[in-house]
Amino acid sequence: MHPQLAQRQTKSLLDDERTLKRLAMNQRRNKEQDHSPKLDAASAAFKYADCKNEFWNPERFSLLYGTPLWNEATQSQKVLLNQLYWVGYYAQIISAEIATIFFNQTCAAGLYALEDFRSVCDTLDLESAQERAHINAFKVVSEQVEAEVFGERIFTYPMRAWHAETMIFNDSGPFRRAWKRFLLQAFSLVSSSNPFLACQYFTVRGLRTLKGKMVQHELSQYYATHADQEHAPIPSKISYFHFLDESFHFNSSCLIGHDVINSLPKPTRFEAMLGNAGIAGCQKDHFPISIAVNGLFWHDPALFPVVYRVLRSRAFGFSDADAKEMIRRCFTEETQGLVEAAKTHATAVDSYKAYLANLEYVNRTNKDMAIMARSTSQNYLETNRRAFARFLRRPELHAASPQPVAALPAPA
Ligand SMILES: [Fe+2]
Ligand SMILES: [Fe+2]
Repeated sequence: MHPQLAQRQTKSLLDDERTLKRLAMNQRRNKEQDHSPKLDAASAAFKYADCKNEFWNPERFSLLYGTPLWNEATQSQKVLLNQLYWVGYYAQIISAEIATIFFNQTCAAGLYALEDFRSVCDTLDLESAQERAHINAFKVVSEQVEAEVFGERIFTYPMRAWHAETMIFNDSGPFRRAWKRFLLQAFSLVSSSNPFLACQYFTVRGLRTLKGKMVQHELSQYYATHADQEHAPIPSKISYFHFLDESFHFNSSCLIGHDVINSLPKPTRFEAMLGNAGIAGCQKDHFPISIAVNGLFWHDPALFPVVYRVLRSRAFGFSDADAKEMIRRCFTEETQGLVEAAKTHATAVDSYKAYLANLEYVNRTNKDMAIMARSTSQNYLETNRRAFARFLRRPELHAASPQPVAALPAPA
C-alpha cells in the first residue's frame, strides 16, 4: 500500500514480510514441481489389466483390513481388497476436492477485496487447477476398476455438485442433508465477502488435509520405495504424485489460516462464532471410526449394502446368508481392524488439537476436539449392531443382488 494514499484498512499483508516470503516460496515451488501433467499422463496410460494382480498400497491399506473378511480371503481377493481401498479412499477425496475447488474460489474472492492479496489468490488458482487433474486421475482409475470387476458403481458416483454432502458414506437423512447443503451455500455467500471467514476456511481445509496427509504419506511410500518404479502400478504412482502436490496445499492452508489471518482485523464475536461453527462441523463429519477404509471417517453402516454387493460379486462369490454373516462378523464384533481404526482416529484428534492450539479465536470445545474425542470403539460397535438389525429388516438393501457366478480365477 502506498503510505500517502488513503486505504480502507489499517493492516496490510505487506507488513508481514516473513509470511509473504513463505507464501511466495510455496507458490513458486508448487508451480515448478506441479504434477498435473504427470498425473494426466499416468491416468491416460492406465489399463487395469496391466496391474490387476498387484497391490497398489502398503498391505494394511486394504478394504476391511484386520477383519474376518481380510483374514479369510484368498491371495487374489486380498489384492482386490487392497485395490478397492484405493478406489474407495480416492472416491472420498474426489468429493472433498470438488468442494475445495469451489471454496478456493469463493475465499479468494473474499480476500481479494483487500489490498495485497494477489499472491494468495494466485496460489489458490494453481491449486484448483491441480485438484481438477487429481480428480481426473482418481476417476479414470476407479471407474475402470469398478466397470471391469463389478460392472456397476460401488464407491464411485457420477460427477456431483460442490454442495453435495462431502462425506460420501454418512448418516444424514434427507432433512439433515438439505440443512447441511443450506449451511454450505450460506457459508459460500458469507465467505466470499468476509476476509476473516475466507481465511478461516483454510483452517478447516488444513484440518481435512491433515487427516489426508496422515494416510497419503503412507500410500505414497508404496511407489517411493518400489524397487522398479518404471513398472510400479500406475495407481501407486498417482498416490505419490498427488501426495507431493498436496504437501504444498497443506503449507498454504497453514500459512493462510495461521499467519495471513494475523494481517486481518481481529474477528468480531459473530465472525468467531461462525468460524467455530465451521470447525465443529468438521469435528462432526470426522466423528465416526471406520474399519472399512481405515483413514477415512465414514459412517460404516452406510456401507453395509455396498460391502454386501462386493461379497456377492463374482470376485468373492458369497451366498446371501454368508454375505450377511460376514458383514455381522466384520462390523459388529471386536477385530484387529477396529483396534487400528480407533488408533487412526485418536491420532487425528491429537494432531487436530496441535493444529488449533495457537489460534486465539478457537473455543474450548474445538481446541479439545471434544466432539470427536467422544467417539469410541464401544459406541462404534453399538451403533453398528443396531444398524445391522435394521439392515436385515430392509430387503431392498440386499435382496435384489444377482446370484454369484464362479469366483475370479487366481492371478497367474
Ligand atoms: Fe488433491
Ligand atoms: Fe489439495
